Amino acid sequence: MENGGERFNWGKSLPVPSIQEIVKSDLHSVPERYVHENMDRPVISENLADSLEIPFIDFSSLAKGDEDEIKKLHLACKDWGFFQLINHGVKEELLEKMKAAASAFYELPLDEKNKYAKSENEIQGYGQNFVVSENQKLDWSDMIYLITVPSENRKYKFWPLTLPGFKETLEEYSREMQKVAEEIQANFSVLMGLERDGLKRLQGELKQGIRMNYYPICARPDIVLGISPHSDGTSFTLLLQDDQVTGLQIKHKDAWIPVKPVPNSLVVNVGDATEIQSNGMYKSIEHRGVTNEKKPRISIATFMFPDDEQEIGPLETMIDDQNHPKLYRNIKYVDFVREKFSRKMQGKSHTEFVKLYK
Ligand code: OGA
Ligand code: NI
Repeated sequence: MENGGERFNWGKSLPVPSIQEIVKSDLHSVPERYVHENMDRPVISENLADSLEIPFIDFSSLAKGDEDEIKKLHLACKDWGFFQLINHGVKEELLEKMKAAASAFYELPLDEKNKYAKSENEIQGYGQNFVVSENQKLDWSDMIYLITVPSENRKYKFWPLTLPGFKETLEEYSREMQKVAEEIQANFSVLMGLERDGLKRLQGELKQGIRMNYYPICARPDIVLGISPHSDGTSFTLLLQDDQVTGLQIKHKDAWIPVKPVPNSLVVNVGDATEIQSNGMYKSIEHRGVTNEKKPRISIATFMFPDDEQEIGPLETMIDDQNHPKLYRNIKYVDFVREKFSRKMQGKSHTEFVKLYK
């Protein structure tokens, strides 16, 4: 168990150039490797897109045990798989500091950022994940991913410790996200027929990783993708978005709906592990990112997930042979994630392989 041992030995990803650098050297360049085929290009379903919004959930009401809010949470997870979490209690100042810290990282010269570059066999660090072939189309984004909880799994060699305040800010942000996540986990427990501490007792403390995404401007947002369609392999994800630039879109009733930024809120989405545990009651929804011609965009995704050794499967409380037969097979979380990392991001294919009936 050296170097964080076999923990988070999740898979390989080929190295790719920094798209931020490519754009810096030529604002108009759109290399072939980033140009998607017609059918994969980001055409927005205009008719629905502007009128629909993901539900809002009030965290402070949830924390007080408000029954109506818990019902709203149930519907949000069932019908949308995504919601805007407001009144979460995380100070605006910290959210701003976190975004500034991510921004400061991306402003570093490439040589400096490359000191934190991930290797092929590593999921942490600066670079891309899910690149499994030289022929694969690439996403118009750079990212740095750091495991934050449990703290003994941190690999500080990937943390830009020379950036003033970066470590302190990320640590404080990580603690705050953990608190928010615990309340959400408690509510998910109740909604899946367990006691408030049910999921925690079953799978222990949630693990956490934070990914800072950078989407440079793009001269042709119509033919590239900031991040390809995927579902998150998490229990759930907490996303801090740029207030100024819309980029995230979610698949809802076969249409792509943009998630408009709501200042001081966190976008929460159900991940694959929760879809499986809820026996499909809650869906881990496909989402993607589009780019923008005028403004770069930063987003900060906090991924909450179970321990590698944990077996993930539909909870007993969610199965009844008459009406709700077991839809997914049980799988060790690490095996699930390894399977996921061995494929390129491609829609919902990642929960398909544990489905019992196709
Ligand atoms: C992700 C993700 C969306 C965004 O990091 O998994 O879906 O808006 N990001 O950056
Ligand atoms: Ni995602």
